[in-house]
Amino acid sequence: MKKIGIIGAGHVGLVTGACLAKLGNKVICCDNDLEKIKKLKNLQIHFYEPGLEEIVKECVKKKLLFFTESIYQIVKDTEIIFIAVGTPPTEEGKLDLSYVENVTVEIAKSLTKIKSKNPKKKIYRLIVEKSTVPVLTSEWVKKTLELLTPTGIEFDIAANPEFLREGNAVNDFFHPDRIVIGVESKRAKKIFEEIYKPIKCPKIFTDIRSAELIKHASNSFLALKISYINAISNICEKVGADVEVVAEGMGLDKRIGKDFLKAGIGYGGSCLPKDIAAFISLSEEIGYPFNLLKEVQNINQQQRLLVIKKAKELLWNLKNKNIGIFGLSFKPNTDDIREAPSIDIIKLLKKEEAILKCHDFKAIENMKKLFPDLFYSENPYEVAKESHLLIFLTEWDDYKKIDFKKIKELMKMPYIIDGRNFLNNKILNKIGFVYRGIGRKNE
Ligand code: UGA
Repeated sequence: MKKIGIIGAGHVGLVTGACLAKLGNKVICCDNDLEKIKKLKNLQIHFYEPGLEEIVKECVKKKLLFFTESIYQIVKDTEIIFIAVGTPPTEEGKLDLSYVENVTVEIAKSLTKIKSKNPKKKIYRLIVEKSTVPVLTSEWVKKTLELLTPTGIEFDIAANPEFLREGNAVNDFFHPDRIVIGVESKRAKKIFEEIYKPIKCPKIFTDIRSAELIKHASNSFLALKISYINAISNICEKVGADVEVVAEGMGLDKRIGKDFLKAGIGYGGSCLPKDIAAFISLSEEIGYPFNLLKEVQNINQQQRLLVIKKAKELLWNLKNKNIGIFGLSFKPNTDDIREAPSIDIIKLLKKEEAILKCHDFKAIENMKKLFPDLFYSENPYEVAKESHLLIFLTEWDDYKKIDFKKIKELMKMPYIIDGRNFLNNKILNKIGFVYRGIGRKNE
């Protein structure tokens, strides 16, 4: 059993902390948001992630998981400290690393206050970057700690980027494709080998800079794959081919792989858009403008506009037309709406003066904060009633269970735009809908 501290109880930090506790470690999660910590102490989680609540409850009950607002307590009571604080985007598309800096300074300050219980044994701490950060951040963390930490305290820096996907994060933690760990010492390497021993997957030990870069390069490549298939989907529409069939044919080639070849309205979320922008900015700073990624961004933005174009093709004018929006979160199984395509699309539809009614399974409350003036309902039939058009923006599985015959009867006009190509177009056509996907043949 290791004593592990996690600074930042957000999506990454809390999932990592709870799952490390589930593996049998004693974990303390810390956050400077007192409200968040108060809720966590009452076993209330501030975001939705399948399976997380159960693990948190179980580990708290077993006294393996604790919460605090004090970095000092983390530094005093745990040996391995993960920094998992937010790195929000700045206006120029860089990452704001001030939270990482503040936490590093706090760790150093706390180190000056603690004393070894055994005077013969030197205090040792392993400080791990978990947040997604640009390459070379660890150098700053190290410099800051070296400058501010008293002599006699030993520490190592490491980078252990996370590859968890929202909505599947718990499963990703226990069954990852790989674990990447950037270390500088054998001592740190050994600690990680022990921590991750129960998880069966390749573990890649690298230098710290390479580990940092693996994260940025991976997320950018995933975005590239999405924009690539979206570009192909536009060509499909122009030549009368079907992108779903093209993607299947491409994906069966093992060198390409079928994942992340789902055409649609583009990627969103708190990670891909932000990471790609930060990578572009970093590459410019170091004198290698990564123009390929600029086009990835460009294609992604264009995909959102397609929905408006298709809506106009179906309805002519959008002014005063009733449009039902199905799906607000940036992807299924989460209540997260950060950088969700739905936000851009709602803004554009509002500009056209369409009358919007919105449905989602988890994200309504978050969207209400952004667009309080819209109509929301948890009942899809209420949203469909009197609508001229339904636009599906998130591929929640439960949408497939809707009674589309009933929906059609409720609607004013039988139009559906499927921004995620996940509905069965043949069945919908049979029911009498006019269906428009992205890069799919129109029947
Ligand atoms: C992404 C990465 O997949 C994780 O490995 C990484 O840990 C995480 O960012 C992070 O940096 O923290 P996430 O943002 O949770 O994870 O979601 P993804 O499943 O990657 O989806 C991102 C977006 O791409 C979604 O809007 C999704 O709808 C879209 N997408 C995904 C497509 O449009 N097509 C696809 O084929 C796949």
